[in-house]
Amino acid sequence: MKKFDNVTILDHPLIRHKIAILRSVETCTKDFRELVEEITMLLTYEAFKDLPTQEVEVTTPLVKCKQQVVAENSVAVVPVLRAGLGMVSGVHKLFPTAKVGHIGMYRDEKTLKPQEYYCKLPDSIEKKRTIVLDPMLATGGSACAAIELLKNRGCKDIRQMSIIAAPEGIQKLAATHPDVKIFVAVLDEKLNENGYILPGLGDAGDRLFGTK
Ligand code: PRP
Ligand code: URA
Repeated sequence: MKKFDNVTILDHPLIRHKIAILRSVETCTKDFRELVEEITMLLTYEAFKDLPTQEVEVTTPLVKCKQQVVAENSVAVVPVLRAGLGMVSGVHKLFPTAKVGHIGMYRDEKTLKPQEYYCKLPDSIEKKRTIVLDPMLATGGSACAAIELLKNRGCKDIRQMSIIAAPEGIQKLAATHPDVKIFVAVLDEKLNENGYILPGLGDAGDRLFGTK
């Protein structure tokens, strides 16, 4: 696959371990949900590395000192329904003040094109760093459409955070939105004829919410 400057693929033994369990058909809904949350925390750590901080004064039991804290209200996360919802708690564990917007989209089974059905975004989202959450980056259609929508609302600093990506999805997203930084936990082999990621984990929404 062509290398893209703005794509970070986390390659870490703990991530590989958690993803191996996540993929397995034997993993139950409760464990699946917990693993999505944990992997999202690890992705958040990486994706928020360059978050701006501001100076505050803190009094320790011994002295006053200058410290750095992350500015509140500086970040919004936007899960793509349904599966992106499973990642919100992982971000909030590390960054509890992140605002949350929601974009509802599903892939048409035949065309694989995203169909938008819901959108509710936080006030002043255009002033925040905005991170699209979706565990699966398959054809890249849903991510591209969600980012297009955010750009139309004036967002400028947009990132994509996904757990499993197919090369096809990375290529489409990086080519369509070269300004968007992409963080993924693992890059898989390819898509199958139905647009599912291989080896993948199946339908992320169904596995998170136990709908099949
Ligand atoms: C899944 C997934 C992404 C999309 C990825 O959602 O959560 O949103 O597919 O595929 P793409 O990269 O080819 O667009 P799905 O359409 O299954 O909706 P659901 O979460 O409501 O089941
Ligand atoms: N959506 C999923 O949930 N899984 C895939 O493999 C592709 C799209």
